Amino acid sequence: AKNDVFAALGNNPVIPVLVVENAEHAVPMAKALVAGGLTALEVTLRTASAMEVVERIANEVPEAIIGVGTVTRAEQFAQVKKAGAQFVVSPGCTATLAHAAADNDMPFLPGAVTASEIIAAMELGITDLKFFPAGTSGGAAALKGFSTVFSEIRFCPTGGVKPANMADYLSLPNVATVGGTWLVTADMLNGGNWDEITRLASEAKAQAESILA
Ligand code: 3PG
Repeated sequence: AKNDVFAALGNNPVIPVLVVENAEHAVPMAKALVAGGLTALEVTLRTASAMEVVERIANEVPEAIIGVGTVTRAEQFAQVKKAGAQFVVSPGCTATLAHAAADNDMPFLPGAVTASEIIAAMELGITDLKFFPAGTSGGAAALKGFSTVFSEIRFCPTGGVKPANMADYLSLPNVATVGGTWLVTADMLNGGNWDEITRLASEAKAQAESILA
């Protein structure tokens, strides 16, 4: 279906959320994640180099499904598409953003954490949502509650998700995937610890797949 954002993300069970200061780290980082089996990568627009990071990964790591996160303004859709982004994530959801996504033909994963926000997204034709910040928005218990009333809505919780609580989320019927920053830290990037990134990615993928199986 056109609105199947998780399919556009390759149905990856874990999405690394990436904060990259140095664009030189982009390609080895993306290759390390892909080597670990995680191919949908969310580069957050929280650093000055984020757009260059997206360009480099789009140009040099074709196995990666490269997306951009922390998008909060409509004009960013065309900019990130030009840089090579294949999907867009936002912490929230407005009609302005949803229309910008449609105008740019961009798979869009916006955030919602309350019943009214979920209904507002449904009114825009959106059924795949980010749930952020998951930990402080009721966590897995809140998503379990939503599963009974919004059975057609699927979520990607992020914010406080880590290996220790991944199963709480992924075992729910309305959680398609989880995301987080634990897979790639600034120390790993600055230390060039690409093997550690691959190890964490492959561990997370194996753990997620065993929960979803
Ligand atoms: C996001 O943008 O999704 C969050 O920053 C991820 O949160 P985390 O750092 O708790 O994983």
